[in-house]
Amino acid sequence: MRTQNNNMDKIAILDFGGQYCHLISRRLKDLGVLSEIFPSDVPARKISGDKSVKGVILSGGARSVYGKNAPKFDKAILELGIPVLGICYGHQLIAHLTGGKVVSGSSGEYGLTKLDIGGPGGILEKLGKTKKVWMNHRDTVVAMPKNFSALAKTKHSRIAAFADARKKIFGVQFHPEASHTEGGNKVLRNFAIGICNAERFSANPKIKHSHILQNMRMSASPKLVVRNIIREAKETIGNRRAIVGISGGVDSSVATMLVSKAIGKNLIAVYVDTGLMRYKETEFIKRIFKKASINLKIVMAGKQFLGALKGIGSPERKRKIIGKTFTDVFSSVAKKEKAAFLVQGTIYSDRIESGITKHSSKIKSHHNVGGLPKNLKLKVYEPLRDLYKDEVRKIAKEIKLPDEIATRQVFPGPGLGIRIIGKVTPEKAEIVRQASRIVEEELKKTKLWKNIWMCFAVLLPIKSVGIQGDERSYKYPVVLRVVESKDAMTANFSKIPYEVLEKISIRLTNEIKEVNRVVYDITNKPPGTMEWE
Ligand code: XMP
Repeated sequence: MRTQNNNMDKIAILDFGGQYCHLISRRLKDLGVLSEIFPSDVPARKISGDKSVKGVILSGGARSVYGKNAPKFDKAILELGIPVLGICYGHQLIAHLTGGKVVSGSSGEYGLTKLDIGGPGGILEKLGKTKKVWMNHRDTVVAMPKNFSALAKTKHSRIAAFADARKKIFGVQFHPEASHTEGGNKVLRNFAIGICNAERFSANPKIKHSHILQNMRMSASPKLVVRNIIREAKETIGNRRAIVGISGGVDSSVATMLVSKAIGKNLIAVYVDTGLMRYKETEFIKRIFKKASINLKIVMAGKQFLGALKGIGSPERKRKIIGKTFTDVFSSVAKKEKAAFLVQGTIYSDRIESGITKHSSKIKSHHNVGGLPKNLKLKVYEPLRDLYKDEVRKIAKEIKLPDEIATRQVFPGPGLGIRIIGKVTPEKAEIVRQASRIVEEELKKTKLWKNIWMCFAVLLPIKSVGIQGDERSYKYPVVLRVVESKDAMTANFSKIPYEVLEKISIRLTNEIKEVNRVVYDITNKPPGTMEWE
């Protein structure tokens, strides 16, 4: 839980899990409003006892109000005289607990939906008549509690927003915090500033330092964030030694550079070539980090990883094995180096998606968080734990990391291992590595490049018939996955022109002899995730 300065106005966010809970806090931060995340079952007296709480937001979540162990909240919160806004699951929960009716729909509403706004006022103030809003639900509110009135509807949700204006209790079925929702920030602003009257921390000249900066890091400036993290790293690690795993991604690179500024040569950066890395990654790492005078250790562990993965098809087991092999390799380097700390580039969204918060449903086991074995005698230090990806990129620029790192696409910890569907072999790793290189090379030449969050190839565990030259071929298909996203929580597939797709397809089938077919993945997230495993 984040704790914050008690004197500043803030919004309490009740965590019903889901990936969006922390995004609400993030959006409020952008608006200059403090927030604090509480477990969903926080007692009403704790909220009323904290005079800095000016409003309460009930976050979305993955459950159904009728589900077994569906999380609830203390209904007395609705009687405190403090404004409340329920979002998605929160909206349904208000209805369910106060005499309204929620039903499980036969089909859900996922993705962008047209919202018809009934009348002006309240949380939908200044939104106009219609907006495209982002939905992610199956259950729907079909009857309102007493004294509530409907504010907006969509094709599938008759009550897509409601209010009890007298008590200042609101609900919206859509996600105002999702970057795709038009006017989403306005909804949050209407609530936090218009209705709750929360004073912005950014407008308060007394708030320059301390706690607030610690917790609201990027709301200050990247320069201050850098200074704070370096100070924190010095205080945390002191004169002891630390190791950090670098993958070549922006997160671990920024974590490495900042901690190295704090403890110098006492930081040992370990790059493990797992055999599942990007094309010519090891050369790239050497070039960047040797130049930056980082104490760099390269471990060539391809055989160890591919050996451990041999014959394993289940995505979760693959992730676990890769994670375990990583910690084994780290432990042995750390022992040799007498390191006391393991520095990790974990960022906020990694923690959310790994099911770290109380109710967030487990989507995937990210190998680099949440699963460190107890016998690993290293203390974990995560300097970027409260930051989002775009914030980390700002820091990368601030500390003058080269652009090829600062703007580099995300690459998952388990590497190519989760882009080879099913069993991993060295041959398949090479196919998918080369295929991803070609995809990247071609897309880099286009104007689309700057909008692309990730582009890569996925290798399927099947073969299909083709004709190459005059001969029948029986080879692997490759899937192109190219997505655009702002925060990794949601994504759209990139609308690549056919000509570009064709160029990529021709190169893949010409240059990789084991491939004879290329397909394009046109799934958004949700319902798909970006990676295939
Ligand atoms: P998904 O596939 O969940 O991915 O939509 C969202 C983002 O997270 C990356 N990802 C990972 N990163 N360890 C990581 O460090 C992991 O296990 C992992 N799994 C997915 C993914 O590449 C995308 O950018």
